Amino acid sequence: MGTGKGYGKTILFGEHFVVYGLPSIVSALGAYTTADVNLLEGSGWTVSDQRPATPGYKELKHVEAMQAIANIINHLKVDIKTQRIEISFSGDLIAASGVGASAAQCTSLARALNETFNLNLDDEKINEAAYEGEKAYHGTPSGIDNTASTYGGLIWFVKNLGAGKNTIDLLQSPRKMLIVIANSGITASTAEVVADVRRLREESPEKIQKIFGAYKKLAETAKEALLEGDIATIGDLMNQNHKMLQQITVSGEINDELVKIALENGALGAKLTGTGRGGLVIGLTENAGIQEKIITIIEEKGYNAWKGTIG
Ligand code: MEV
Repeated sequence: MGTGKGYGKTILFGEHFVVYGLPSIVSALGAYTTADVNLLEGSGWTVSDQRPATPGYKELKHVEAMQAIANIINHLKVDIKTQRIEISFSGDLIAASGVGASAAQCTSLARALNETFNLNLDDEKINEAAYEGEKAYHGTPSGIDNTASTYGGLIWFVKNLGAGKNTIDLLQSPRKMLIVIANSGITASTAEVVADVRRLREESPEKIQKIFGAYKKLAETAKEALLEGDIATIGDLMNQNHKMLQQITVSGEINDELVKIALENGALGAKLTGTGRGGLVIGLTENAGIQEKIITIIEEKGYNAWKGTIG
């Protein structure tokens, strides 16, 4: 028997850009998925998924989730011929597009298998196993989601496009920052959206290269602003990052609408977070009063919204 946790995440800067080796900044969330593993007689594995979820999310991701579990079991060389593995997922992370739900599931499972079979895996190995799971969701994951899920905290992440290790630097911000996380309720296919960006890059290399260049500068400025706790600049850069995400066609109408609601009601900055074309939007707020107000207004419009803290 064993148990393990994987945190949810929110990408502050650089979703999609991160796939191409550009720097990104991600924060783990306080909410997590838990995996419990039991050993029974027989062979193979079974799953019971009790995670709270956006309606339709689990159904749409079912095939990918089953493949992710198989990938992790294979990667960790767990014997499923002479024993049966009963896996159960739960926790307070709401499984939705954009919150790193798949990575949290993969990380929690890697940790639970580690405990069950005394595999002595350190965080780096847990992260590698979770990454194998993430490959089931799209062929070329950057690894940002499983990294946030494994290590927690605020992370400057750069994918190494060669054979070397990814850059994973923990950032310490001098202040806690309050965010609103708004859920469009729409589950996007990460595989499809990532493939569309790749196509766009092949069709219009110069245009995309120009946006990538501007984004790289933005990410470096954002890192400085986070290290200084300069929330006005962070908010402004989030707005600029959202415009770049619109330019690479990953923002949907619903994302733009939620961004508008957040900004009109006092957010310092707002952007989509994660895959886009639905999923989640985050808004940075100066104080708890504004955070509360934006959540109330978003809920009045019929969407779910949650509080989050960064830093
Ligand atoms: C998904 O949370 C983040 C993307 O950048 C994909 C990835 O990094 O693998 C869209």
